[in-house]
Amino acid sequence: MYLDYKKLGNMYLRHCIYFLLLLFGCAAEECANEEECPKDYQDVYDKSISNIPSTLKAGATEVFFVGSLISTIPVGAFTNSPQLEKVEFLNTPTISIERGAFEGLDKVHSIEISNTPLTSLPVGVFQNLPMLESLILKLNKIQRLEKGLFDGLRKLRELHLHTNEIVSIDEGTFDELDNLQLLHLAKNNITSISTEMFSKLKKLATLRLYENDITAVPAGIFNDLTNLKEIALQGNKISVLPPNLFFANKKLQKIILEQNLLTGLPPEIFVGLPLIKQLSLQKNQITSLPPVLFGEMPTLSEVKLNQNNLTALPPGVFSPIIKLKKLDLSQNQFTSLFSRYFEGLESLLELNLQKNLIETLEPTTFENVTSLTTLKLTDNKLRTLPEGVFDTLPKLKKIYLNNNPWHCDCKLKSFVNWMKANTKKIMSSTPETCDLPEGLKGQHLLSLTEDQLICPTNPPGGKSFCNLFVRLRLKLCECDATCCACTLDSI
Ligand SMILES: *[C@@H]1O[C@H](CO)[C@@H](O)[C@H](O)[C@H]1NC(C)=O
Ligand SMILES: *[C@@H]1O[C@H](CO)[C@@H](O)[C@H](O)[C@H]1NC(C)=O
Ligand SMILES: *[C@@H]1O[C@H](CO)[C@@H](O)[C@H](O)[C@H]1NC(C)=O
Repeated sequence: MYLDYKKLGNMYLRHCIYFLLLLFGCAAEECANEEECPKDYQDVYDKSISNIPSTLKAGATEVFFVGSLISTIPVGAFTNSPQLEKVEFLNTPTISIERGAFEGLDKVHSIEISNTPLTSLPVGVFQNLPMLESLILKLNKIQRLEKGLFDGLRKLRELHLHTNEIVSIDEGTFDELDNLQLLHLAKNNITSISTEMFSKLKKLATLRLYENDITAVPAGIFNDLTNLKEIALQGNKISVLPPNLFFANKKLQKIILEQNLLTGLPPEIFVGLPLIKQLSLQKNQITSLPPVLFGEMPTLSEVKLNQNNLTALPPGVFSPIIKLKKLDLSQNQFTSLFSRYFEGLESLLELNLQKNLIETLEPTTFENVTSLTTLKLTDNKLRTLPEGVFDTLPKLKKIYLNNNPWHCDCKLKSFVNWMKANTKKIMSSTPETCDLPEGLKGQHLLSLTEDQLICPTNPPGGKSFCNLFVRLRLKLCECDATCCACTLDSI
C-alpha cells in the first residue's frame, strides 16, 4: 500500500512536469512511464489545494488529493461529482470529516483516507454508499470505532484500519458487513476482543489483529467464521489459547501466533486444518507441547518454534505433518535430543537446533530424518558426539557445529575423523575449537592429530573420566584400560 503511495507521488510529479512543459511551451513529452501518468479519468490534486474544488475535471471518475492542505472534508463535498468511483485523501492534514461528506456518491466503490491526523469518524459518515467495496483508513490516529459507523455497507469487501490508535471498538460495529472478506486491524491499541465482535462476518477470509495489546482470545470467537483463511495475531500479549479455538475454521491456511506470551498450547488445537500452509509459533514462551498437537496438514512445509522455552518434545509430535521440510527449534532450552522427537519426519530437509543447551545426542538421534540436508547445532553445550551420529544422514550437505565447548580427548576421535572426511559440509561461520583440555584450548578441531586426542592414563587413585563434564549427572559408565566413558542416563 506504501507502493500505491509512491506511485501516486510519482504520478503526480510527472503530471506536474507535464504541465510545466505545457506552460513553457516545450514539446509536451509524454510521461516517461506511461503506466504512471494520470489517466483521462483521474483527477489529481497536490499541496497547492486547500479546499475541495466544487467541480472536478470533466469526466473524472477518480479523484486523488495527495498532500493537499485539506483539514476538513465538509458535508456535500462531492455533490457535483456523482460519477466518482474512487476518492482518495493521502497524506493530508485532515482532522475532520463531516457527516454527509460523501453524500451523493452512489457509484463510489473505493474510498481511502490515509496518513492523516484524523482521530475520529462520526457515525453516519459512510451511510448511503451502496456500492462501496473498499474502505481504507490506515495510518491515521483513529481511537474509537462506534456502533453504526459501518452500517449499511453491505457490499464492503475490504476494511483497512491498521496503524491507527484504536483503543475501543463498540459491540456490533461490524455486524452489517455481510460481505466483508478482509478486516485489517493491525497496529492499533486494542486490548480486548469479544466473542461476538466478528461473529456476523460470515464471508471473512482474512482477519489481521497483529501488533495490538490483546491479552486474551475468548473461546468461540472464530466459530461462525467458517470462511477464514488467515488469522494474524502476532505481536500481542496472548498467554493462553482456549481449546478448540480453530475448530470451525476448516479453510484456514495461515495461523500466525508469533511473539506472544504463550506458555503452552491446548491439545489438538491444530487438528482438523488440512489446508494450513503457514503456522508460526516462534517468540513465545512455550515450555512443552501436548502429545497430540497437529492433524494432517499435507501442505505445511515449515514449522517455526524457535525462541520458546521447550526442553523436550512428545514422541512423533510432528509426524502428521508429512511434508515438513523445515523445522526451527533454535533458541529453546533442549539439553538432549532423542530420535523419537523426530519420528515420521522423512521429508525434513532443514533442522535448526542452534542456541539451545544441548549436551548430548544419542547415536540414533537423527535416524528418522534421513532426508536431512542442513543441520544446525551451533551455540550449544556439546562436548563430544557419539560415534556415527551423522551416519544416518546420507544427504547431509551443510552442518554447523561451532560455538560448542568441545572436549578434545580420545572420545572425540571418531568425530574429528568424520569432520576431516567431510570438510565441505562444515559451514560454520567460525571454526570448531577445543574448550578442554587446557592444553588444547582454542585449537581447531580440524587441525588435531590422532596423538593429541588422548585420555589421561594412570590417573592418581585409579581411572579418570574420559568426559569429565558429565561427572555430576552421569549414570552409566564404561571403563577401558585408559579411562571411563560415562553417559547421561537416558530418560
Ligand atoms: C497507542 O499506543 C501508542 C504506543 O504504545 C501510544 O503512543 C498511544 O498514545 C496510544 N494511543 C491511545 C489512544 O491510547
Ligand atoms: C522462558 O525463558 C525466558 C528466558 O530464559 C524466561 O525469562 C521466561 O521466564 C521463561 N518462561 C517460562 C514460561 O518458563
Ligand atoms: C525410525 O527409524 C528407525 C530406524 O531406521 C525405524 O526402524 C523406525 O521405523 C523409524 N520410525 C519412524 C516413525 O519413522
